[in-house]
Amino acid sequence: MRQVSIGLDNINASEIALGLMRIPEKTTAQVVELLETAVSHGVNFFDNADVYGNGEAERRFGDALAASAIDRENILIQTKIGIRHDQYDFSKDHLLAALDGSLERMGLDHVDFLLLHRPDALMEPDEIAEAFFEMQKDGKVREFGVSNFNPTQVELLQQAVAQPLVINQLQLGLMHTGMIDAGFHTNMSDARSIDHDGGLYEYSRLNNMTIQAWSPYQYGFFEGVFINNPKFPKVNELLQKLAAKYASNVNAVAATWILRLPTSVQVIAGTTNPGRLAQICEADQVQLTRTEWYDLYLAAGNDLP
Ligand SMILES: NC(=O)c1ccc[n+]([C@@H]2O[C@H](COP(=O)([O-])OP(=O)(O)OC[C@H]3O[C@@H](n4cnc5c(N)ncnc54)[C@H](OP(=O)(O)O)[C@@H]3O)[C@@H](O)[C@H]2O)c1
Repeated sequence: MRQVSIGLDNINASEIALGLMRIPEKTTAQVVELLETAVSHGVNFFDNADVYGNGEAERRFGDALAASAIDRENILIQTKIGIRHDQYDFSKDHLLAALDGSLERMGLDHVDFLLLHRPDALMEPDEIAEAFFEMQKDGKVREFGVSNFNPTQVELLQQAVAQPLVINQLQLGLMHTGMIDAGFHTNMSDARSIDHDGGLYEYSRLNNMTIQAWSPYQYGFFEGVFINNPKFPKVNELLQKLAAKYASNVNAVAATWILRLPTSVQVIAGTTNPGRLAQICEADQVQLTRTEWYDLYLAAGNDLP
């Protein structure tokens, strides 16, 4: 599996990571199989959040990890905190308590990466800095990052916290390309020129923040899977063609469209099916040409000015 380097410490992480949001509906035995399949295919990175299944995804992951043959020291574990029922909460007390809850549910003494899940308009950067300081001093977190933050929000937080924010987890996939569209349509007046995210793609590159692409196979906001979906004939036809060319499969090719971006980027695959995960890991053997990357972008319904 190809690796990406994360942060100033150059931590090597697999370019395909496994997202655990959907595991609460699975049994521990099924999750053991999923985790062991991941590791046997070179995946060393696992993404969770306290809010997934109301803590159940972390609990199920912890149980499965303990029951598996996986050595915790050989994998990287990330969780996200800061969302609670009907509000986002980055207060120091909540962050410290939330991390302790996550560690307890997963049966861990530390996570490798901790992300703030969605920006809290009431955040006090100095308070977050104190929380991060304590978490790191106590050996509970190695590295910090954010999710769904725009560049200004990153800067607001970064000017207060001592640790570099090394990751931004963002929705990105062939059918969700806003941060790419805006760059192409700079200086235009059409709808795609509207920059909703403040130059997020370029900002992440400039500041050495790894982009973690969440929901890589969904269109809209959890509206469904675009792969093999008759609503999207053009992009699926091209995915099939490229899958045949590379003796691969459509899920892997769609992942490589993201991984072709010349920056530190990971795909957070959310499958709960070990067979599908093995297929996605075949992305490792595909490198799209420049022309193929653009053809897929256009087949997904986008245009270039
Ligand atoms: N930071 C955030 O705000 C945020 C938000 C959402 C998610 N996330 C993270 O991102 C991870 C991935 O999100 P996601 O689960 O939405 O991603 P995803 O990988 O796009 O979607 C996974 C879902 O799509 C299905 N699927 C994939 N390929 C398919 C195909 N060819 N045919 C039919 N079904 C297919 C999977 O079914 P099977 O299980 O049957 O394969 C599963 O239900 C999450 O686990 C979480 O870690 C982060």
